[in-house]
Amino acid sequence: MKKIAIFGSTGSVGENTLNVIRENLDKFEIVTLVAGRNIEKLLKQIEEFKPKNVYIIDKENAEKIRQKYDGLNIFYGKQGMEEISKLTDFDVSISALVGIAGLRPTYNMIKSGKTVALANKEVLVAGGELIMKTAREKGAKLLTVDSEHSAIMQCLNGEENNEIDKILLTASGGPFFDKEITENITVEEALNHPTWSMGKKITIDSSTMMNKGFEVIEAKWLFDVNPDKIEVVVHRKSLVHSMVQFKDGTIMANIGPKSMQIPIAYALNYPNRLPNKIEKLNLFDVVDLKFEKPDLNKFKCLALAYKAIKKGHSCQVVLNAANEVLVEKFLNKEIKYTDIPKGIEKMMSYFDIRELKTIDEILEFDEEVREKMRKEEM
Ligand SMILES: NC(=O)c1ccc[n+]([C@@H]2O[C@H](COP(=O)([O-])OP(=O)(O)OC[C@H]3O[C@@H](n4cnc5c(N)ncnc54)[C@H](OP(=O)(O)O)[C@@H]3O)[C@@H](O)[C@H]2O)c1
Repeated sequence: MKKIAIFGSTGSVGENTLNVIRENLDKFEIVTLVAGRNIEKLLKQIEEFKPKNVYIIDKENAEKIRQKYDGLNIFYGKQGMEEISKLTDFDVSISALVGIAGLRPTYNMIKSGKTVALANKEVLVAGGELIMKTAREKGAKLLTVDSEHSAIMQCLNGEENNEIDKILLTASGGPFFDKEITENITVEEALNHPTWSMGKKITIDSSTMMNKGFEVIEAKWLFDVNPDKIEVVVHRKSLVHSMVQFKDGTIMANIGPKSMQIPIAYALNYPNRLPNKIEKLNLFDVVDLKFEKPDLNKFKCLALAYKAIKKGHSCQVVLNAANEVLVEKFLNKEIKYTDIPKGIEKMMSYFDIRELKTIDEILEFDEEVREKMRKEEM
């Protein structure tokens, strides 16, 4: 039995992970569940999966859990997150918190030298170099459950000695690929993703294509390739999950059903595949394998991500922090859709490049960017 920890169990990736585990109870056992504020969902998960350790942000909610489940290791607050992410009683941990909140816990888990399956791409955007270096030093295995990166990982199986010519990172294009982007775009329109059902922040990031910019950075770190060799390819149907082109011209593609459960199961049971109940792709029904280029003048967030890659690491920390603040404001209907790239660009020009070596330096700088945005009321 593999012991599994899920950081972000009440979210979209977390629930998909639990769906995989529910179908494979002979293989996996839940030891740790980490949630934010959704106490009702967490209580149901505790009842069903009987973990040893749980985390919830608020002390009052932690107390409610304690009253029902005496004997459970219950953690809460900042200190509690530090402690639960340093536990080592797992074989595979799914890192599926959202945003910068996942950086320190993921760093702590990697320091344990175990296997961490990363969904939380912002971890690599803000701390890629440190995370990869720590994983190497501690002998931790870093897997990915992002469908595109899982696809690339699978295309690279057995290709260790073959240099990558190009990574072709597919993108659905989101809800506005064929529409005009205006300041009147509503939260509901931006959340209406054509092919994937995901948490709110990543759904907005997909609509602006910032998500793809983050994924270019994620791919650079995971596969040790120069970003110039990573090309974003819009493929509206989301059936080709990404591709790798080699120097002989061969392109390896990963094609399959649209379900996060497949890359999650692959990471949980790596390197062996697990059967599932998801409807298989019928190739005779696949009429459209069309690929298009993204328009960087229209998808300004993607262009800003490329700019941040060129400028350097601390600019990527600014990109990530500013985006996180502005997406939340847009979701709260405090700013317009088009204010997202405008605000990020402003922050990227305000902050000079600086060296950020440690986890504390990265997180302090992330906070400095957020503080500046609070002062500017943006
Ligand atoms: N969804 C996808 O299909 C998908 C695909 C690829 C990559 N990703 C990446 O995976 C990550 C998670 O995405 P998601 O769609 O699953 O997001 P989500 O549905 O919003 O879930 C986020 C999870 O993190 C928890 N959380 C957030 N802040 C927390 C904090 N400060 N402390 C403790 N728990 C906290 C939430 O808890 P509560 O809900 O209880 O508050 C929830 O369980 C993101 O980085 C995203 O980019 C997602």
